[in-house]
Amino acid sequence: AEIIIVPDAAAAGGLVADEIARLIRTRPDAVLGLATGSTPLPVYEALPPRLAGVNVSRVRGFALDEYVGLDPAHPESYRSVITREVVEPLGLDPALVRTPSGSLDGIAHAGEEYEAAIAAAGGVDLQILGIGTDGHIGFNEPGSSFASRTRVKTLTRQTREDNARFFDTIDDVPMHCITQGLGTILAARHLVLLAFGAGKADAVAGAVEGPVTASLPGSAVQLHPHVTVVVDEAAASALR
Ligand code: F6R
Repeated sequence: AEIIIVPDAAAAGGLVADEIARLIRTRPDAVLGLATGSTPLPVYEALPPRLAGVNVSRVRGFALDEYVGLDPAHPESYRSVITREVVEPLGLDPALVRTPSGSLDGIAHAGEEYEAAIAAAGGVDLQILGIGTDGHIGFNEPGSSFASRTRVKTLTRQTREDNARFFDTIDDVPMHCITQGLGTILAARHLVLLAFGAGKADAVAGAVEGPVTASLPGSAVQLHPHVTVVVDEAAASALR
């Protein structure tokens, strides 16, 4: 992987937004892989000025994951988050930006349908990734198969605690999610893994330099030929 250490999250946002704007200019129907959570926000915030005057009407997007059983209209559903943080500020066509369906009705086929939609789009050009403190990417928690495709998973206690800040109490954080698999993520043409803060240092070091192991799902990126890791000093602090 190419590792870029930046002074702060805003600098990372600018760098990655430049890359995305370049991609959309050369490929107006580019397929973006969208992460949620706090980490990608500086990227999304840096994009609008860089896309001024660029036709984004054909840009497509696929979110990494969604909570299962949370009303899509809930402000913390990833559908809502992607609409609020990406689709609206960038002026994308909401019909071209998908999130996996976490609705209980049809959940048995939702993974397969999502995989088919990604395949029909020709695959993801650039996948933005954050990493969990437990090493997850997407919501592929430790133990996830490297061959896995979009499917329902159980969130770890750690992840529910980490994400409780978005909800009133931890009990409001859903127990289950539907997430692109590690195999799905590895099929994207370019992976951009972002991490900020000391809390991510061990996960980053494990992902980039540790053994390739399902115990640290982020280490799957070592199997990919085109990975860019963008971290601040604190998140880089456990790297050799
Ligand atoms: C989000 C996702 C997760 C997050 C990870 C880090 O779509 O798939 O892997 O990237 O949990 O979350 P933050 O960025 O909030 O620290």
